[in-house]
Amino acid sequence: MKTILINVDSEKPEDGELEEAVRIIRNGGLVAFPTETVYGLGGDAENPEASEKIYAAKGRPSDNPLIVHIWDFSQLEEIVSSVPENARKLADAFWPGPLTMILPKNDRIPLTTTGGLNTVAIRMPSHPVARRFLELSNIKIAAPSANTSGRPSPTTAQHVAEDLDGKIDCIIDGGVVDIGLESTIVDLSEGLPTILRPGYINKEMLEKVVGHVEIDPGILDINAEKKVKPKAPGMRYKHYAPKGDLTIVEGQEDKVVEEINRLVAEDKANGYSVGVIATEESRDKYVCDTILTIGARKDEYSIAHNLYGILREFDELGIQKMYTEDFETPKIGQAIMNRLLKAAGHKTIQV
Ligand code: TXA
Ligand code: MG
Repeated sequence: MKTILINVDSEKPEDGELEEAVRIIRNGGLVAFPTETVYGLGGDAENPEASEKIYAAKGRPSDNPLIVHIWDFSQLEEIVSSVPENARKLADAFWPGPLTMILPKNDRIPLTTTGGLNTVAIRMPSHPVARRFLELSNIKIAAPSANTSGRPSPTTAQHVAEDLDGKIDCIIDGGVVDIGLESTIVDLSEGLPTILRPGYINKEMLEKVVGHVEIDPGILDINAEKKVKPKAPGMRYKHYAPKGDLTIVEGQEDKVVEEINRLVAEDKANGYSVGVIATEESRDKYVCDTILTIGARKDEYSIAHNLYGILREFDELGIQKMYTEDFETPKIGQAIMNRLLKAAGHKTIQV
């Protein structure tokens, strides 16, 4: 299959530029498009064959449900069996934006799209290209992240092409995305609102709107070894994995640098190619052939923004062993560490 690449202005895409992509997705084809979080791989959410194509292109297990993207709140009312008050409040506060809500579905959304579950994940993205594309298509778009299953999520159209060129119909290139980590997922289908996947919209922000919010015990690092199953099927798989071996070194800053430098020297002596993830603040303190700067601690969002790109860069460089500091930053730190721990297969060293 030849994958068409369409370049658009990320702030103000022209309708004419999106026309071909709209035609493709309305006819059951697959179109990758930018959102404010990561690139999504879109197909018609009400067409089971389109969902099957999505699973196939990504190499994704078909019991891992897709997120349905909408551009107007009335579309949510069309596909759920009821709209709880909390969903309205959260939509008012955070939509369009990087929040996904899980609600009981009705019959319009096929079980293929929801991986066999009777709930559906719904999100209204804020990216101007995603919004205009949804509006012109005039359908609900099922879209997981546009990466091969198990690879870091794509934050540029080039990342999408690396994984999916020749396997999907079209990629809309709207430049590099803003946030760089997938949306926060909140389950509103039963009991108290519960975070199934941390993201830019953190617990504190949610609690200002709906009161107490739980965190799915299955996603907490302390439960990683205890086989507590995360509720979101996608959080159960080893995910976001670079090809090399990543280790997180936690502790007081100077000690961390010292330990990483020691490990790098040891690995190098054993013939491995080694890399370090550093920050603007720490990079000059490392001694290593490959040091990639992820961002600045004084701007924690820069770290989220660059994480997936950095993991892909290490793959490209063929790095076999990688070390990183931890990033328990105040606002988006929980989301960063959730992804980083998965990328590291939960391998951490305390100093
Ligand atoms: O930011 C995002 O959410 C991006 C962009 C493209 O919108 N999408 C994304 O989709 O990250 P994906 O498929 O990579 O992740 C969806 C996650 C998976 O962990 C999946 O298991 C979970 O959402 N999920 C979807 N429907 C669910 C449901 N009904 N119940 C529980 N978890 C669900
Ligand atoms: Mg994904």
